[in-house]
Amino acid sequence: MTRCGTPHDDHARLAQHETRRTRQHTPLHDLEEGPMSAAAQQAGQAGHAGQATIATVVSRAGGPLDGEGSLVDARIPAPAAPTGHDLLVEVAAVSVNPVDVKVRASANPDGRDRVLGWDAAGTVLAVGEDVTLFRPGDEVFYAGALDRPGSYASQQLVDERIVGPKPATLGFADAAALPLTGITAWEALFDKLGLTADSTGTLLVLGAAGGVGSILIQLATALTGVTVIATASRPESRAWAERLGAHVVVDHSAPDLDRRILDVAPGGVDYVFTPQSRGRIPLFATVVRPFGEIVAIDDERDLDIMALKDRSLSWHWEFMFARARHGYDLIAQHTLLARIARLVDAGRLRTTRTRTLTPLDAASLREAHRAVESGHMVGKVVVAEADDSPHAPA
Ligand SMILES: NC(=O)c1ccc[n+]([C@@H]2O[C@H](COP(=O)([O-])OP(=O)(O)OC[C@H]3O[C@@H](n4cnc5c(N)ncnc54)[C@H](OP(=O)(O)O)[C@@H]3O)[C@@H](O)[C@H]2O)c1
Repeated sequence: MTRCGTPHDDHARLAQHETRRTRQHTPLHDLEEGPMSAAAQQAGQAGHAGQATIATVVSRAGGPLDGEGSLVDARIPAPAAPTGHDLLVEVAAVSVNPVDVKVRASANPDGRDRVLGWDAAGTVLAVGEDVTLFRPGDEVFYAGALDRPGSYASQQLVDERIVGPKPATLGFADAAALPLTGITAWEALFDKLGLTADSTGTLLVLGAAGGVGSILIQLATALTGVTVIATASRPESRAWAERLGAHVVVDHSAPDLDRRILDVAPGGVDYVFTPQSRGRIPLFATVVRPFGEIVAIDDERDLDIMALKDRSLSWHWEFMFARARHGYDLIAQHTLLARIARLVDAGRLRTTRTRTLTPLDAASLREAHRAVESGHMVGKVVVAEADDSPHAPA
């Protein structure tokens, strides 16, 4: 992606003002029908003569990845100078999550360009007047907000309160793998399941080699005393989960998955993390001990959880965009990202990046989307301007 060194001009400021003014809350259940009206507002106004523009990749049409306009190199108006708590960040690397794929594939009836991307690492270029946590030149990592233009752009505005300092020991590519999944895993384990350093018992982690599972296993083993029973269905994903610290790995495709889990935890597991809840309620009703707790992150509609009442099980939802969406306790995400950065720098957590594609353009992003769409990711795929990772993850 070619960088833009041109200064911000009045038109770009106006465009950004319009973006903020029209920011909308998209209901969660409408996620797959096309959010991002704010991004569309910004991206849709490119092309006026003389204005500063930046390189970006836009999603112009919903539908399949190979369809025309799915992901396209483009230029959009440069973001305005940051105001309030916003940082203007030069994006060096992004990672692709299932949410990128879901939004890209969702209907886009008005055909407006959407800027996707909810994971980034980069450098602060400028700060708003209320910013206290960062200065220009600081290296940062963050997921951002669902209802603002995303990180598939060379510059992005983001609220400082949901941004963390990039781990000093990681390059941009390695750091970009961590924010969205790290926030999700942290909130799931500590805010929802209420785990602490004193927690013991067993935690069942479905889809453990995936993006969220890969950091969640590490957080659970580094910061609590629970035994992690991970699930993986293939040799590569099993080996990755073991390498990240899972104590036991069972195959989620096995027809006797319930028996395999109960062989390891005869009295039933204490906690469950589920990113794959479809068809699993009978399993949870069988393998979770009475008064056990389950945290789910997926979008499984029409989920009937009545079978969980018999054992008085608790069901928690985790949605990592909820804070930004509702302006609720934003600073908690800055705090947890800063803690993740410190844990990385102390050698207690590692990056989950397993693949880096360069440069940051539509072709690389299409390849990354294809990998995530497969549903069988091991760790995270990153798309970066340059691969600055010192070595591939072992
Ligand atoms: N609520 C939130 O805040 C939030 C945040 C992040 C993600 N999410 C959602 O959570 C889901 C997972 O995200 P992710 O980033 O971890 O995805 P991911 O990286 O694409 O997950 C891939 C992993 O899923 C495993 N898997 C595939 N089918 C499975 C099944 N039927 N049962 C158990 N595991 C299965 C695969 O293991 P094998 O290859 O071994 O089969 C693979 O390792 C997505 O729907 C995503 O949108 C929600």
